[in-house]
Amino acid sequence: MPTLFDPIRLGAIEAPNRILMAPLTRGRSTRAHVPTPMMAEYYAQRASAGLILTEATGISQVGLGWPYAPGIWTAEQVAAWRVVTDAVHAAGGRIACQLWHMGRLVHSSVTGAQPVSSSATTAPDHAYTYEGKKPYEQARALALEEIPALLDDYRHAARNALKAGFDGVQVHAANGYLIDEFLRDNSNFRTDEYGGAIANRIRLLQQVTQAVVETVGAGRTGVRLSPNGNSQGANDSNPEKLFVAAAAALSDIGVAYLELREPGFAGTFGKADVPPIAPAIRRVFSGPLILNSDYDGASAQLQLDAGTADAITFGRPFISNPDLPRRLAEHIPLAKDNPTTWYSQGPEGYIDYPVAA
Ligand SMILES: Cc1cc2nc3c(=O)[nH]c(=O)nc-3n(C[C@H](O)[C@H](O)[C@H](O)COP(=O)(O)O)c2cc1C
Repeated sequence: MPTLFDPIRLGAIEAPNRILMAPLTRGRSTRAHVPTPMMAEYYAQRASAGLILTEATGISQVGLGWPYAPGIWTAEQVAAWRVVTDAVHAAGGRIACQLWHMGRLVHSSVTGAQPVSSSATTAPDHAYTYEGKKPYEQARALALEEIPALLDDYRHAARNALKAGFDGVQVHAANGYLIDEFLRDNSNFRTDEYGGAIANRIRLLQQVTQAVVETVGAGRTGVRLSPNGNSQGANDSNPEKLFVAAAAALSDIGVAYLELREPGFAGTFGKADVPPIAPAIRRVFSGPLILNSDYDGASAQLQLDAGTADAITFGRPFISNPDLPRRLAEHIPLAKDNPTTWYSQGPEGYIDYPVAA
């Protein structure tokens, strides 16, 4: 069985190790959602990851409601991302862009428009806005006639990602955002071909993935799902059946890898309602399977030893340990991240975590 330090081919990407960086929203872009030079430094510091998955990056203004999060729909955003990808490549790394439509998990004060979703629902809890947290607003159901334009937004963003020098893209289909809102039966009440039966609820995921694959190639397209339980209000009555069907469809499309965010029952960033669905997904998804949530070096290696995963993404450990692969290899203690600077805009808690001596 491979170790975390063995290389792995993820479609067209040759990752030199299996310690990948999970997507992490950090809120260091401008108010126009343009990446800043500080982001180039941050990502370049983490270039020893087998592959960096960027923070979630908006495909359109209506789909991006997170203050100071980056987008990738304008030429200015593409040019600014080019500085980031150049810095990562110069440091010897690889970087893929996580493509994000937040669906109902936005506030109109940030997007300028009513949220859209699979159905007219309101997410529980509060949205982050420039004026602090505000209750979510009711979303409107996307009309059938609007889906082609949505797919075009994904194509446009994926094309822009290649223009910006990314090695690939990841379709963000996890965490209760738009695609996840179509997948799950507590947020999708549609009666057309995108609702009801599982084959219908996975249709948007398939179409978005297919559109992205046609734009950048299957070898540069990955997908992230969060199958095992409630995620920001999105949940399903039969998650195993749903996500096994979704994973089988993605396997048929031939994506470069599938990443699963599955916390445990005692997860420290989200908790599971049901056991991991990864074992069942492993049986139907033929490409590399990447697992995430609450791993350390030892528990990550156990998954590789058991053959239940091909690689692991690390989130918070990469925030505070820019040289995480080396620390795991040399058993150097990990630094703890500071949650109060996760989304603060300055350099503090962002580019000032030192590498080990
Ligand atoms: C500050 C922060 C920002 C995050 N942003 C994203 C994101 O943009 N996209 C995403 O898919 N997940 C995001 N996540 C979830 C992480 O990718 C990951 O699933 C989670 O941190 C659990 O992994 P860990 O235990 O290795 O940290 C975020 C998590 C944190 C803590």
